[in-house]
Amino acid sequence: MPQVEIHGYAIVSDNDCIADASGHTPEMLRNEADWAYFQAELNKSAVTVLGRLGHEANPNPKRRLRLILSSSSPGLERRADGWWWDPAKVPWDTAIRTVLPEGGRIAVPGGRQVFDLFLELGYNAFHLTRAEGTHVPDGIPVFSGCQTGRSAEAILSERGLVPRERQVLDPAGKVTLAIWRPSSGNS
Ligand SMILES: NC(=O)c1ccc[n+]([C@@H]2O[C@H](COP(=O)([O-])OP(=O)(O)OC[C@H]3O[C@@H](n4cnc5c(N)ncnc54)[C@H](OP(=O)(O)O)[C@@H]3O)[C@@H](O)[C@H]2O)c1
Repeated sequence: MPQVEIHGYAIVSDNDCIADASGHTPEMLRNEADWAYFQAELNKSAVTVLGRLGHEANPNPKRRLRLILSSSSPGLERRADGWWWDPAKVPWDTAIRTVLPEGGRIAVPGGRQVFDLFLELGYNAFHLTRAEGTHVPDGIPVFSGCQTGRSAEAILSERGLVPRERQVLDPAGKVTLAIWRPSSGNS
């Protein structure tokens, strides 16, 4: 198994949503400082892992390597726009050994089912940005567990992560970041 580090990234509303009821990112969750932070993090990553809808919604002008989750993949398949992976057909260890044989940092920007999957596999860090004072009615939560009223923070802490670093990304927009890391270990 190559040496990898898995980093999740989400900007959420006060009610833990990443997208609105139609599956789109609402304006209230778009913030320049958060975007700049996220892009700088992607520059440090060897591959970006995302769901098909997020892949289709977000162009890839820098042609970063992507691993796209979709049930349409026969397992793991190289297409012009990236690797297409169905975790029900090919396990994570096999997929990542093929995509990143030398290992490296993995950026996971969601969406919900992808965040859920990596909760099971284990994050080395989860970069949780909150757009304070925002509420997305009937939106898509960052983790499925938020549907039962638990916060993103509660779910991360149930998985043994703790907030290690905090910063205000945008004081004007009240956009704050907490980086959650495993309570044991120094990854
Ligand atoms: N605020 C944020 O930080 C943030 C983060 C992420 C996304 N977003 C936004 O949220 C919206 C989309 O999020 P979303 O959660 O609705 O969708 P998504 O995760 O981007 O895409 C969902 C699709 O990914 C595939 N997929 C996901 N998990 C899979 C699995 N375990 N096995 C097989 N296929 C899997 C499926 O594709 P098939 O239908 O092809 O099987 C599924 O329909 C976009 O607008 C995106 O930009 C915002």
